[in-house]
Amino acid sequence: MNTLVRKNQELASILEVSRVLTSSFDLEKNLYAAMEILATNLEMQRGCVFLLDPVDVRIRIVAAYGLSRAEIRRGKYRIGEGIVGKVIESGQSMFVPNIGEAPGFLNKTHCRPRKNGISFLCIPVALEKETFGVLTVDRIYAEEQGNVDDDLRVLHIVASLIAQFTKLWNHFRKTERECGDLRSRLLERYSLPNIIGDSPALHHALKSVRKVAGTDTTVLLLGESGTGKELIAKTLHYQSQRAQQPFVPVNLAALPENLIEAELFGVEKGAFTGASVRRAGRFETAEGGTLFLDEIGELPHGLQVKLLRVLQERSFERVGSSETIGADVRVVAATNRSLFEAVKQGNFREDLYWRLNVVPIVLPPLRERRSDIPLLARHYFKEFNAAYGRSVRPGDRALARMSEYRWPGNVRELANMVERLVIMTESPVIGPEDLPFDSHWADPADPPAADGRGSGPEPDGTTMPLEQEVEALEQKRIKQALSENRYVLQNTAMALGITPRQLAYRIRKYKIHMIKV
Ligand SMILES: Nc1ncnc2c1ncn2[C@@H]1O[C@H](COP(=O)(O)OP(=O)(O)OP(=O)(O)O)[C@@H](O)[C@H]1O
Ligand SMILES: [Mg+2]
Repeated sequence: MNTLVRKNQELASILEVSRVLTSSFDLEKNLYAAMEILATNLEMQRGCVFLLDPVDVRIRIVAAYGLSRAEIRRGKYRIGEGIVGKVIESGQSMFVPNIGEAPGFLNKTHCRPRKNGISFLCIPVALEKETFGVLTVDRIYAEEQGNVDDDLRVLHIVASLIAQFTKLWNHFRKTERECGDLRSRLLERYSLPNIIGDSPALHHALKSVRKVAGTDTTVLLLGESGTGKELIAKTLHYQSQRAQQPFVPVNLAALPENLIEAELFGVEKGAFTGASVRRAGRFETAEGGTLFLDEIGELPHGLQVKLLRVLQERSFERVGSSETIGADVRVVAATNRSLFEAVKQGNFREDLYWRLNVVPIVLPPLRERRSDIPLLARHYFKEFNAAYGRSVRPGDRALARMSEYRWPGNVRELANMVERLVIMTESPVIGPEDLPFDSHWADPADPPAADGRGSGPEPDGTTMPLEQEVEALEQKRIKQALSENRYVLQNTAMALGITPRQLAYRIRKYKIHMIKV
């Protein structure tokens, strides 16, 4: 064959192999297609890709051209066994000119009844010095049909493409598995049994949740701060057919008013100075899933009509574009203030109010479901004891006192209080005197340390024992970090580069005031 023709054929084959390798998410199908190209374009008889199974450390055929299923099943090797095993072990290619005369050739697949005259090329599939497979090819070298060096060069390129593709594919599978695991944990976390409480008021709300979870109806969640609106929004999503698609929360109170439109609906390239790329909005990100519009009462008047249109027509336009985009999005909105009052005062459009209010779910404050308080308290004691390695429990009188308290911050306040009690309290049983109801929480001012030693290191020049100085510095850093992180322990620990458990230990050790008494 003419050298130029042959070279062109090689190049075309390599290109074709690289195309088929990424043509689908099916590893075996793509590898088979690659082997087929080698066979048809470059006259290679049989072609196999073997990969090392990291679990049982066997080398197995994953794709083969010119072999029956039974022959494929027989193609299993250990590292070091036969030519395939040796190539995996050494990472070096091997060429057997005539397998009929090679005693090391095992022919495990029994696919070659006549071995004489068949050459065998075996190339490592490797990336960054790690060999995790081999590519093998049978070849009958007739006159004018290429030579070994040409074949080896082409096969090396193909093997390196296979290596990269396989590595990517493994990575993809791993990420997919992790996503699946995370998703099933979310499904479990945001399920009705995980919503704590047995009061009639909560049951009433959960009955509505159960009814509408499976539908696409717009839901309006109403309730004071900390009553579980976001928790219910996620439960609605993860218990719906949309659970596999994204849950996208937007807090309208947290966004500057002039950015809300772009944030919700996206921006067309060139819509305004600085819009150098097209950016998707949250409606697009939530496509197929659920958009949670938190603090809906904060939606500026001008955008209320735009939202109304999306809810009615299920379509919108990006800022700076006239192209209409369909929105298959379920909307769940929440507010802790009376939207109806806002309507009466002319701050909220009445038509949007009624459109959002299709199914309102009211989450009752804790003081209207006092029987849930001990259940929630016990739940959080269990959770934080486990997190901080402690075993603090509430006494009956403390539970009774908690049940009487007003809880303006509802479940969030209860959870925070229990977390602090678990860390702070010395005795294993919480008494009513340990509860800080009459006082303020977490005063950011730096209270004097209980041991009267003062809170910071002494000024330069004084002779303080080193250990004491280190401790004083440690205390100061912890107090500062606590104050900067609004006494949220997880964040404080992260800011200090220690674990929450280590932080809790130091707070106890230094008797740092978390609560002003
Ligand atoms: N019934 C419940 N069972 C278990 N945990 C709950 C329950 N209700 C609320 N919580 C927890 O209380 C905390 C506050 O709830 P969430 O953030 O959903 O409140 P919210 O109504 O959105 O508050 P805000 O209006 O302040 O945003 C969360 O950690 C949530 O998981
Ligand atoms: Mg919330």
